Amino acid sequence: MSVNYVGLPTTQRREAEEAQAEHRLMSAAMAVLYAAVVVFIFLWAGLLGEFDYYAYAAAFVCAVMAAVGLMIGSMNVPKRMFVLPLLIGTAVQVGLSIHFEQISAGFFLLMPAMFTAVFFWTDRVVAISCTTLYTIGFVVTPLVVGGDDALARIVTTAPIFLGLVLTTGYLGSESNRMDRKRGRFESTISSLLVALQERDGYTADHSEETVDLAMAVGDELRINDDERTILADVALLHDIGKIGIPNEILNKRSGLDDYEWEFMKKHPEIGERIVAPVPGFAPVAKAIRHEHERWDGAGYPDGVSGEDIPLASRIVLVCDAFHAMITDRPYRKSIGLEEARSELLRNAGTQFDPQVVDALLTVIDGVGVPESVGQAAWDGETNSAVPQAAAVG
Ligand SMILES: [Fe+2]
Repeated sequence: MSVNYVGLPTTQRREAEEAQAEHRLMSAAMAVLYAAVVVFIFLWAGLLGEFDYYAYAAAFVCAVMAAVGLMIGSMNVPKRMFVLPLLIGTAVQVGLSIHFEQISAGFFLLMPAMFTAVFFWTDRVVAISCTTLYTIGFVVTPLVVGGDDALARIVTTAPIFLGLVLTTGYLGSESNRMDRKRGRFESTISSLLVALQERDGYTADHSEETVDLAMAVGDELRINDDERTILADVALLHDIGKIGIPNEILNKRSGLDDYEWEFMKKHPEIGERIVAPVPGFAPVAKAIRHEHERWDGAGYPDGVSGEDIPLASRIVLVCDAFHAMITDRPYRKSIGLEEARSELLRNAGTQFDPQVVDALLTVIDGVGVPESVGQAAWDGETNSAVPQAAAVG
């Protein structure tokens, strides 16, 4: 999952996209759930030779509820609204079961019960009331329908029913808990990015544009989904450590002296310490630490070389340097695309991973420089000091 980036131009877009994706996922899950019930009812009825009105009616209810779920999913409504079609569908199913004397109908409550437990476990009111209703339906239906073996069925299957619901609910709550914990850390990091934007607008815009470039290179190198997620976060956060660099160094107009350079070179380690506490961000933190390592081992802070440097670090270093070269700075104009190309080639195999350079050149030659890159306009009013140090990347 990518860090939410509040306060900067793409923030709202990313957050809205994530919220929409979650909505669509939930409604799709509901539709799939009910579709599964429909299929099951037909298979079950067909197998038992009970292909009667009950099967048709139950399947119809499932189909309607799936449609309602999808409709709710496409609207911007609170999460609790998803309970409604589930409960209405469940009530109709129980009613149908009793009417047609289908003793096994309690089984159909299992899937919506598990679904509710997972998605609403943290909403205790919804989770407890729904689970109670499902359990009552599960127990009551066979009792009302009757039959000698009704009680025996309930006694033998109720523990399985409750066990499955509680287990899925617990797993759902664990993942929710981790999400919330991660969310808190991510909000903190987002605030730090905004703080960095306030102090050093170039670095923040530059980081955001580096994400698009790095992702294009990552795709060219055919990295997998996990590596893509890490790469996006590293590209966005690689300079977050600059928040710990004093203003007089970060915004210095002239060249840095040795002492200042030594200080500036600490930003990858500071960045690593900032990001490391976020659950699941260990690979991101590691890659941020190594973002200034060179392919030949002459980089910093650890002097690791070649493929010992995390892939995300190698990609971000090249994209970072390329972006800096094609962007106008107050103290230096862009060197232009052609010059930047030969600069990349000249340093491939020493400073840069040659494969990454190849991939970036392919991206530039093929689809061109991503549209957003190079739009980091220098705002001379809010950032009157010229950050020579931004050249460090
Ligand atoms: Fe950097």
